[in-house]
Amino acid sequence: MKKTSLSIVFSLFLSGMISAQNKITLNTDLAKTKIDKHIYGHFAEHLGKCIYGGMYVGENNTKIPNTNGVRNDVIKALKDLKVPNLRWPGGCFADTYQWKDGIGPKAKRPSMINAWWGGVTEDNSFGTHDFLDLCERIGAEPYLAGNVGSGTVKDLTDWVTYVNHPTGSPMSELRKQNGREKPWNVKIWGVGNEAWGCGGNMTAEHYSNIYRQYATFMADWSNTGGLYRIASGASDGDYAWTETLMKNIPHNMLSGVALHHYSVLSWGDKGPSVDFTEAQYFKTMDEAWKMEEFVTRHSTIMDKYDPAKKIALVVDEWGGWYNVEAGTNPGFLYQQNTMRDAMIAGITLNIFNNHADRVRVANLAQIVNVLQSVILTNEEKMLLTPTYHVMKMYNVHQDATLVPISIESASYEYQGKKLTAVSASASKDATGSLNVSLTNIDFAKPQEVTINLRGEDFTKVSGQILASAKINDFNSFENPNKIAVQDFKGAKLEKGVLKLTLPAYSVVVLNLKK
Ligand code: AHR
Repeated sequence: MKKTSLSIVFSLFLSGMISAQNKITLNTDLAKTKIDKHIYGHFAEHLGKCIYGGMYVGENNTKIPNTNGVRNDVIKALKDLKVPNLRWPGGCFADTYQWKDGIGPKAKRPSMINAWWGGVTEDNSFGTHDFLDLCERIGAEPYLAGNVGSGTVKDLTDWVTYVNHPTGSPMSELRKQNGREKPWNVKIWGVGNEAWGCGGNMTAEHYSNIYRQYATFMADWSNTGGLYRIASGASDGDYAWTETLMKNIPHNMLSGVALHHYSVLSWGDKGPSVDFTEAQYFKTMDEAWKMEEFVTRHSTIMDKYDPAKKIALVVDEWGGWYNVEAGTNPGFLYQQNTMRDAMIAGITLNIFNNHADRVRVANLAQIVNVLQSVILTNEEKMLLTPTYHVMKMYNVHQDATLVPISIESASYEYQGKKLTAVSASASKDATGSLNVSLTNIDFAKPQEVTINLRGEDFTKVSGQILASAKINDFNSFENPNKIAVQDFKGAKLEKGVLKLTLPAYSVVVLNLKK
């Protein structure tokens, strides 16, 4: 006898292949915290082919269509993505960067060696004007990371003045000479990067004092309502770093404290980006879930010193980090992007949403051709990765109001170890519609999910899904749309209860209307 799809689902359920233990409650009437759109930020470093080739191809000597040297295909993709902010020029590179070498006539700009990333020559052809004009073009707020490790207080204050002072100062006149009349009014500034490591190998106490000194002289010339100054923060679970900064830096000069966490197998052998085993997949998911613990525990320390939550936790580097693709420069950090990366993005963005009271800025590392990119390029070709699709599906949460959630999830089990299989977050947008994002990281099992909608009535549901036949699947230049967003019609809404089944390693975003 031919089995109906319902009876197949039923037999999978009996055989333990579908888990029915996932119960979510959404308290839609208790929504109050804004999910800052800046949680969906990106990061572009002078590293490998992120800037050169990935975004900037120069105005001359290229067949690639561009606007002022920036690829038109990349501009369009980033506009569509609604990138809220873009961090630049590093990373470790930021603490070596001399911004004055990147302004003025390109032919006259001095070169430098990019000591952190492959030892290649940096000709400074992409500089401050190029970056800030690109941000304007894609509608993103710039986030400039200042050089504290090898620069001076004067260098950084001059940079602030150059980009923000309206008129009449040596720096504003220099900017005008270089073709930009109006200031850009850059609000978000990083005071160094990874000060405990590539940014100067400082102690937290020493960096706190250095921060106070730099921050004092970063005047707000603009009408940005005050600069948003971010202290270089901890790596992973270095809670002592956060505690020292919160204790020693006066809170009126501190808008955010950073945190970096990469989902990496081990810093020795990071494993392959495509042909990974289930053991490696499980470990990556374990690392991705650690973001929940890091965010919670750093927030608890911040709560002690800043109970009103005025200072943000800024996760300005996150994502998967694997061995580079065979045959590519080891210093360029070029890796493929599979459904595993979609899982990292799905989990992480749900974590950030659910901690929106403290996490108000975050930046995926990195935007093009480096680490967990949303875009890969190869000469004139460009593709959107699974991570791009997840970030785009989730952008419905930008500046929406977080809906408090309670989740009972089944476990994804591997060799006796367990991880939470289903992650979710929800928000209400300005029109009153409800968006729910769900990720099932299980390597094999679909997950049946029941969502109780408390507080308000909704009558219509629609959705989108990102899924693929194999967890190792990726978009290639030969097959750039292998993994693409599809309509999801599998959610049933009845009397305030929503039911759906999430396929293994899938991301679903549902939209509910009244
Ligand atoms: O994103 C790559 C590097 O990782 C950054 O330059 C640095 O800040 C971090 O260690």
